[in-house]
Amino acid sequence: MINLKILILYVTFLQIIININCQYVPKGRLFHTATLIETRIYYLGGQNNYSLLTNDFFYLDISKSFNKTKDPLPFVNVTLDETVPKHYGAATTVFGKPKDSIFLFSGDIGALQNTIELIYILNTTQSPLLWKNIAVSEDEIERRRFSSAIADNNNKIYLFGGGGGGKLGDTQYIRYNTTNIFDSTTGIWKNDTIDNTIIKREGHTATYLPDTGEIVYIGGCGDNGLVDMTNLDVYNIINDKWSKWETKNPPEQRCHHTAVLTNDNRIIVFGGANALQLPVENYYAVLNTKTLEWYHGNESIVGAPYRGHTATFYNNYMFIAFGTYSQGTTQQASDDILIYKINDYANFIKVDYYNIDKPPFNRNIIVGTILGIGVLGVIGFVIFEYNKLKQMKGTKPQPYVINIP
Ligand SMILES: *[C@@H]1O[C@H](CO)[C@@H](O)[C@H](O)[C@H]1NC(C)=O
Ligand SMILES: *[C@@H]1O[C@H](CO)[C@@H](O)[C@H](O)[C@H]1NC(C)=O
Ligand SMILES: *[C@@H]1O[C@H](CO)[C@@H](O)[C@H](O)[C@H]1NC(C)=O
Ligand SMILES: *[C@@H]1O[C@H](CO)[C@@H](O)[C@H](O)[C@H]1NC(C)=O
Ligand SMILES: *[C@@H]1O[C@H](CO)[C@@H](O)[C@H](O)[C@H]1NC(C)=O
Repeated sequence: MINLKILILYVTFLQIIININCQYVPKGRLFHTATLIETRIYYLGGQNNYSLLTNDFFYLDISKSFNKTKDPLPFVNVTLDETVPKHYGAATTVFGKPKDSIFLFSGDIGALQNTIELIYILNTTQSPLLWKNIAVSEDEIERRRFSSAIADNNNKIYLFGGGGGGKLGDTQYIRYNTTNIFDSTTGIWKNDTIDNTIIKREGHTATYLPDTGEIVYIGGCGDNGLVDMTNLDVYNIINDKWSKWETKNPPEQRCHHTAVLTNDNRIIVFGGANALQLPVENYYAVLNTKTLEWYHGNESIVGAPYRGHTATFYNNYMFIAFGTYSQGTTQQASDDILIYKINDYANFIKVDYYNIDKPPFNRNIIVGTILGIGVLGVIGFVIFEYNKLKQMKGTKPQPYVINIP
């Protein structure tokens, strides 16, 4: 009897040990990448601190609800033996039909002129997982860090900007204003039409608007300081043309921030460093892409990373992962994921949970239903109107006044 009790205790104890061991706890990092595929946010690489590069590869499982206060974050280690070089400042995007593959432009691997280990792809549905190197010829494309990568719905990938060491033999740090376009179906590279008015930059963000086929570039650092955030550069992938968006009420200029697109076509900018490499005052700024008006968060954000973090939007939650925050005079690499529940305008709530039980009411589905099935139109319209009322509640935050130096 006693033996049985001991055995049960022993087995329970073993299970606890195994459970603890199974839970992957990634180290703090900055300038990693985050790529959302279905309900997994894949994290790759980054620096543990300013000298230690990694190629850690793991995902956060957002297929189930979780409570950060109670349970460890649901990370899963998928680090591969045959892998990509250790790096930071890379750019990734999701491509393929269905969108199940990661495209990696590997940033800085400690050698900014190396073009051999530059580009990789990984199909997340393949078993075993495998990073496949895409060879590029030396003059085709140069290694850069802090660039951006966007895939459209036709498997074309648009790399823009970034900074690097140029070609072999170059001795100066070079920022770029070129777009390299990779057709992942044919494997052919080409450049967009050169527009020499586009300012060279790194540490900017790129947001793809699937409705219009436009890529909106926000902020970044240029050769002459921070890039203007009033007149935004927008690239139209359909007609290969650049245009400017003149926005109203812009926030402080910034570099190394993040940007995500909401379901109602707002771009949420989070964090960023000012010209002195210090955190910007207003972390949370939102651009309405229909009216080109900026809203400014009225909540001050304390203890959140401001540069080298990533932002991923899913189900009206924004996941801010890792990055660095200021603590006195030292910079700490965060090992945390902060969760923000996104409301209208620039309203949001910081939460310690992720809850899939109440998925957001999707207006697009209702509109689609009205157009698709006429019979249900009346009911659909009532729900749509009701939802519109709900969405518009809450007053618009006060505009935030920026000091122009
Ligand atoms: C970076 O991390 C390595 C390994 O953990 C450590 O040896 C080194 O002291 C760290 N450097 C800084 C500046 O924190
Ligand atoms: C998360 O867990 C904490 C601690 O158990 C609890 O106080 C809190 O209410 C939980 N949050 C949710 C949304 O369930
Ligand atoms: C993650 O997986 C890789 C490959 O199996 C392994 O080498 C590494 O030690 C794992 N990391 C942790 C923290 O368990
Ligand atoms: C864009 O890059 C090209 C090529 O390096 C350069 O000639 C041009 O001056 C750049 N434009 C700006 C505004 O910096
Ligand atoms: C921010 O704005 C929201 C909506 O307008 C309001 O409910 C909230 O009290 C404001 N918070 C602060 C700190 O001003």
